[in-house]
Amino acid sequence: MKNGAIYNLQFTIYNCYQCSSQLIFNIHSRDEMKEKHTEKMALIADNLWKEYKRNPVVCGVNFTLRPGEIMGMLGPNGAGKTTTVGMLYGAVIPTRGFVKLGEYQIRDRGREARYYMGIVTQEDNLDPDFSVFENLVDFAHHYRITGKAARLRAGELLARVGLQDYSKNRVDELSGGMKRRLVLARALINKPQIVFLDEPTTGLDPHARQDFWKLVTQLKLDGAGVLLTTHYMDEAQRLCDRLLLMQRGKVIDEGSPSELIDRTVGREVAEVEGLSEQFLQQLASQYQTWYSPFGNAYLLGLPSDSDREVWEQLTAAAAAESLKRRRANLEDVFLRLTGESLEA
Ligand SMILES: Nc1ncnc2c1ncn2[C@@H]1O[C@H](COP(=O)(O)OP(=O)(O)OP(=O)(O)O)[C@@H](O)[C@H]1O
Ligand SMILES: [Mg+2]
Repeated sequence: MKNGAIYNLQFTIYNCYQCSSQLIFNIHSRDEMKEKHTEKMALIADNLWKEYKRNPVVCGVNFTLRPGEIMGMLGPNGAGKTTTVGMLYGAVIPTRGFVKLGEYQIRDRGREARYYMGIVTQEDNLDPDFSVFENLVDFAHHYRITGKAARLRAGELLARVGLQDYSKNRVDELSGGMKRRLVLARALINKPQIVFLDEPTTGLDPHARQDFWKLVTQLKLDGAGVLLTTHYMDEAQRLCDRLLLMQRGKVIDEGSPSELIDRTVGREVAEVEGLSEQFLQQLASQYQTWYSPFGNAYLLGLPSDSDREVWEQLTAAAAAESLKRRRANLEDVFLRLTGESLEA
């Protein structure tokens, strides 16, 4: 661990566990944290911009994350989600705008604010020299959780993420999904008020993903604010109270999952293969609905007032086996709004 590593926050958080621990250690290296806030605080992002070499990658993002709320941030690869999350906890310095957690401006008082935060970065940054258990206990020290209390908390969290049988293993002996679970456990060591989860379930098996959903729901019930980025639309639909849809650095829409579905794609959708784009385009324009490519097929919104007519035209033109009718979902919203599939 290098002294003064805090000057390069982006590197410390993204690439190096030891430097990231330095970042958190610095919270407690002064008498800043005499009293811990027990009242829940909201996180405010105000007109956040980030440019790299004058190239804007985040362009004026605004939102408030309230205690007890799970907010999802969705968008295609490169939309600016990780960069935005980085600005929220102080790893990325905004070009313009600011972030506040309660009274703490992240720019000036980031170390204090991070005392209340749990962070799961998109890339794992565990310490390969420590065992699974030691990774947690060592991290707990940075929050002045030491001795028996640290060991108890580490044991409890390992059980919560299903890694209790691996506590003595080295980190490089874990599978990719197990490392994700350990990073999640580590983020909760300080019982954070605000939790940032940047693609936390990538690589998790279906059971582990369900366990994770339970855990996040519990965080919400405990009053934590959770910001989640994910490419899994089922996960976003199931967990999030509110969603921000990002594309090319901008928030292009926001709302609850059901609001977005109703407003953007309607109630029902047809999936059809083997018809020309021209036919779909014509049908969509005749009935004032939308269509979108979907792999080798197309999606067509079935308008609630003329669904029968549209469906009749489709059944007359396409073979029955290449036609399907179903409820609209969040993935349809994205295909329509971003023109790109998100489960990439
Ligand atoms: N340090 C950096 N220097 C230059 N450009 C960067 C840097 N970090 C990110 N970018 C660019 O910013 C844009 C947004 O990247 P970001 O990682 O925030 O996207 P994302 O929405 O998290 O994507 P993904 O879904 O793939 O994780 C991309 O075009 C990326 O190349
Ligand atoms: Mg990302």
